[in-house]
Amino acid sequence: MVKARIAVLVSGGGTNLQALIDAQKSGVIKSGEITLVISNKSDAYALTRAENAGIKTRIIEKKGNVNFEADIIKALQENKTDIIVLAGFMCILSESFTSLFENRILNVHPSLIPSFCGEGFYGLKVHEAALSYGVKVTGATVHFVNEIPDGGKIILQKAVEIEEGDTPEILQKRVMEQAEWIILPQAVELVSKTYAKE
Ligand code: GAR
Repeated sequence: MVKARIAVLVSGGGTNLQALIDAQKSGVIKSGEITLVISNKSDAYALTRAENAGIKTRIIEKKGNVNFEADIIKALQENKTDIIVLAGFMCILSESFTSLFENRILNVHPSLIPSFCGEGFYGLKVHEAALSYGVKVTGATVHFVNEIPDGGKIILQKAVEIEEGDTPEILQKRVMEQAEWIILPQAVELVSKTYAKE
């Protein structure tokens, strides 16, 4: 089998990237291989995680770069990428980008879509919104990426209980541990199976 070639796009700490690297080692991901990590931030700790795992990295900054998306597309094509995973990638991609990779871009979002999602809902803001609304259950969603922010077809979801005394930071950690780090690798394996070649 020729494994699907996976590129992971990151902006920050990269704990979801780490979950993917670990899942590759443990065999949860067996139909795909992370061959490239692209960060739009030069100081993202995710880059160190990739380097420690021997994965090729690229920094493509958005600020002041009118060719931001074109530069990413070029890097993805040079790498012969089959699947793109947005793992804490804090930029919204345009329709011209997403339509080039239909059913090939996955995103992990820290809520049960369609709650607390769309433009402006990212990172801790999502958990702040869930707590201030007062929901009793939240979770995470892995979905395909299309032109609507957080609007593509859902692949996997997992619910997480909200507990008395939760702060956005405590809730973020629980959602990561109990949902994101589990369903992201599972979804990546599901999609990799489709693009791996015999
Ligand atoms: C994760 O919780 C991820 O779901 C979220 O940002 C965090 C990144 O953490 N993504 C979004 O909010 C996207 N809308 P990480 O860098 O440690 O993986």
